[in-house]
Amino acid sequence: MLKIMTVYGTRPEAIKVAPIIKALEESDNFESIPVVTGQHREMLDSVNRLFSIEPVRDLNIMSAKQGLNGIVAKVINGLDEIYAELEPDAVIVQGDTSTVMGAAIAAFNRQIPVVHVEAGLRSGDINSPFPEEANRKLTSQISKLHLAPTSTSKANLLREALPEKEIVVTGNTVIDALLEVVEKPVEFTDQTVAELVAQKDDAPIVLVTTHRRENLGESMQNIGRAVATLAGKYPGYRFLLPAHRNPLVRENVLPHLEGLQNVFVTEPLAYAEFAHIIAASRIVLTDSGGVQEEAPSLGKPVLVMRENTERPEAVDAGTVRLVGTDYDRIVEEVSALIDDEKHFASMANAVNPYGDGRATERTLAALEKMFGLGERLADF
Ligand code: UD1
Ligand code: UDP
Repeated sequence: MLKIMTVYGTRPEAIKVAPIIKALEESDNFESIPVVTGQHREMLDSVNRLFSIEPVRDLNIMSAKQGLNGIVAKVINGLDEIYAELEPDAVIVQGDTSTVMGAAIAAFNRQIPVVHVEAGLRSGDINSPFPEEANRKLTSQISKLHLAPTSTSKANLLREALPEKEIVVTGNTVIDALLEVVEKPVEFTDQTVAELVAQKDDAPIVLVTTHRRENLGESMQNIGRAVATLAGKYPGYRFLLPAHRNPLVRENVLPHLEGLQNVFVTEPLAYAEFAHIIAASRIVLTDSGGVQEEAPSLGKPVLVMRENTERPEAVDAGTVRLVGTDYDRIVEEVSALIDDEKHFASMANAVNPYGDGRATERTLAALEKMFGLGERLADF
């Protein structure tokens, strides 16, 4: 059996590799070796628990307010030893975090083929998102197999002169994960959240998430102030903000929301619960990458608090709007969705540009093809 090591470190990577790890476990051709860097801790462990994944190694690198170079250095050094010890035949990485870039460089330097899941996303601005745009471009340069979620991402890779025969369009595995969890009933661990969902028809929910590094500081304070203003303007609405664990995020946003009756700040929610919350929400306001992919497939209007996006497909479909991080603009855009039923209806369309739930299947087939064990499936 060929040894396939999946290396991941943060919540979104964990969610998006979980279906691949489960499929590798069931494969006759591959031995699955999940390894975590621990760039995130609680938020990573929560996903592994949900999908019953037990990593065979854990670098446990997280520290409070960690710097990018500290993360990358620990990832490269730690993985170098694990690669030497476990000798994988290929390393799978997913996305664009520091874990991904470090894991890819460490594998490349040991001449282990890198398989890049969610390859080819590009905002076109090397400084935004920072440092993710650079991480994914660097990872593309040293990967052997590029699993692009959409034809747009494939086109981005071709523009960078990557060989077409090494690119497969799979759809995004986040849709596989999402479909798996939204189909099952869920019990909310947080009683307040359970009550918000139970009352959603009388008091609609606006779901808010923020965490991007480039939004830390003034932009994130604008986000906090805008949510506070909206909560005052629309007392019949409930604003739910599961707060990222990053203490810098909390310091910037939470002071603006204290004492507001219809704003509910919680700890990060377990993935299955969060997916059901998206489904129960009226409007989603976020700077997250993954949420931009999930919410459109559940028919929710999404306002993205960024200046650009590497996920243009749902913007083109009309379900996502880029609103930036200006205080007035955020208030105006959310107000328009609340006040104008026609505008809301024009955005509340279920679109699935990011996947059809078969990305994992196409990923495994592409891996088999890479090792001469089978044929690819048709592109998504
Ligand atoms: C990282 C990724 C970003 C991704 C995001 C997902 C990089 C450069 N950035 O963001 O692409 O969108 O994760 O959420 O790789 N913390 C905890 N517990 C946790 C997780 C985080 O306490 O379970 C705290 C720690 O203090 C940590 C801080 O949050 O220092 C920030 O974590 P980090 O992974 O560095 O976050 P970002 O770089 O903002
Ligand atoms: N998510 C979650 N619980 C939460 C908030 C988000 O499980 O409280 C999930 C969400 O559904 C998505 C992923 O986390 O799949 C996105 O992670 P994040 O926004 O931290 O990172 P990004 O996608 O921006 O890299």
